[in-house]
Amino acid sequence: MSAHAEENPLLEGLDLGRRPESCALVIFGASGDLTQRKLMPALYSLAIRGLLPEHFVVIGAARTPGTDDEFRAKMREAIEKYARDPFREDVWERLASGMRYAALDFSDETSENSLVRILSTVDAEYGTQGNRVFYFAVPPNAIATLVSELAARRAAEGWVRLIIEKPFGNDLASARSLNELIADRFSEREVYRIDHYLGKETVQNMLALRFANGIFEPIWNRQFVDHVQITVAESIGIEGRGSFYEHTGAIRDIFQNLLLQLVAITAMEPPSDFTADSVRNEKVKVLRSLQTPDPTSVVRGQYGRGFVEGIEVPGYREEDGVDPASMTDTYVAAKLYVDNWRWADTPFYVRMGKRLGRRETTVAIQFKRAPHPPFAEATSDSLRPNVLLIHVQPDEGMSLAIGAKVPGQGMSIRTVHMDFLYGSAFREGLPEAYERLILDAMLGDATLFTRSDEIEEQWALVDAITSAWERDRTAFPNYAAGTWGPPSADELLHRDGRSWRRH
Ligand SMILES: NC(=O)c1ccc[n+]([C@@H]2O[C@H](COP(=O)([O-])OP(=O)(O)OC[C@H]3O[C@@H](n4cnc5c(N)ncnc54)[C@H](OP(=O)(O)O)[C@@H]3O)[C@@H](O)[C@H]2O)c1
Repeated sequence: MSAHAEENPLLEGLDLGRRPESCALVIFGASGDLTQRKLMPALYSLAIRGLLPEHFVVIGAARTPGTDDEFRAKMREAIEKYARDPFREDVWERLASGMRYAALDFSDETSENSLVRILSTVDAEYGTQGNRVFYFAVPPNAIATLVSELAARRAAEGWVRLIIEKPFGNDLASARSLNELIADRFSEREVYRIDHYLGKETVQNMLALRFANGIFEPIWNRQFVDHVQITVAESIGIEGRGSFYEHTGAIRDIFQNLLLQLVAITAMEPPSDFTADSVRNEKVKVLRSLQTPDPTSVVRGQYGRGFVEGIEVPGYREEDGVDPASMTDTYVAAKLYVDNWRWADTPFYVRMGKRLGRRETTVAIQFKRAPHPPFAEATSDSLRPNVLLIHVQPDEGMSLAIGAKVPGQGMSIRTVHMDFLYGSAFREGLPEAYERLILDAMLGDATLFTRSDEIEEQWALVDAITSAWERDRTAFPNYAAGTWGPPSADELLHRDGRSWRRH
């Protein structure tokens, strides 16, 4: 048994390939929803697998008054309710033993000093060595003050990492000024801008699919790919977050981050290695190569009343906290072009929206048709093009559509699917994205986090699209809840002789 396992019996027998250095994790926004539903359950799952640092404490910070015991009780409840693993008293006790709560007014200097005091006590008692991860699970308007205060009180020893939740800014100007403020006080390698989708196994598997297999790369280009379709569909509405969504819309909520990440990962060149900068350099090159779509290549929509899974649901303008004449987009579809040698003239059709037919995030690579089908009986309908469909969620996995001969006489061809499902290929349940991301930040690996130039490229494109909307006269609502978006989204593809994948 190793000396380490002697100290922590929970680590015995587990693969400790990736173990971070001892540190304290401070969560700002510890009284909020994200901390309870995602962050604390993720920490618990890391604890159960022995992946947390040897010396580790969690300090919750928020303005709401509270004691250490109250905080622990609330976090225990959150783990019991939301963790993917069954509750184990021994794992909880170990995680909870170093847990602290700091009630802070983030704009008040004296309370910031109280956090500094807690941290130095923790360093002395728990051996966290001045290493800090600060998780900003707070509204965007609280970030600037925190960054300045933390920089002013930086400990003399140890490393610092800032994990910053999305949204990072609201447009190019606000993202740039936040980047400048942070760059003034911290170095880029200390900053981890989160987009939790990048922590999902299937998104990372797209990189494995492309770069760990020899067969895809030679055909992953304009010569063999007819077009790409990316769908991020949700069947839910805005779930009581009307006032948030009114300022965001689908374009800022999904297009700016997840959608553009999926485009970048699909289109990027192979990086020379899998380090944070090599991967992100390639993604930024894709974002820089994206043509600004002209207004006729972008469709926006807003849902009206309709039926989702047989239940009648209200239109967006009838939701709480929403202006009855709101012009906020709950749906966006666009035709994008990546202007480079690999992808010139190959459309990337993307769509995302709320209250669509069902929940689905997919990337579909549609290959060109066979150039000459030599089978007299094959109709153009039966000879469908090959499609590689990557299911990001739900039913994580992928599927390749190929033409096969129907058994019997003659030569009729039908499309069949070769499927790979994560759930059946690997027994272990998929880790939550936040587990991977928190662990990576503690390890100092920023590959799955967004770099400052990347985020600015994303916002530049969003700004170009939304500025054209100021002159747009689209009448809202223009699609019924439970359908697949406005008719103009279908026309966007029909004009090119194509159609959206059927569901
Ligand atoms: N919830 C999710 O699933 C999710 C998913 C993706 C991204 N996010 C992002 O994560 C962040 C937190 O989300 P949430 O859902 O946890 O929000 P929330 O439930 O409203 O919690 C916000 C937290 O921030 C603190 N806070 C509020 N205003 C503050 C201020 N002016 N200064 C300092 N602290 C303040 C609140 O605590 P006190 O009032 O006690 O100070 C509370 O703990 C947001 O940026 C959100 O966009 C959340």
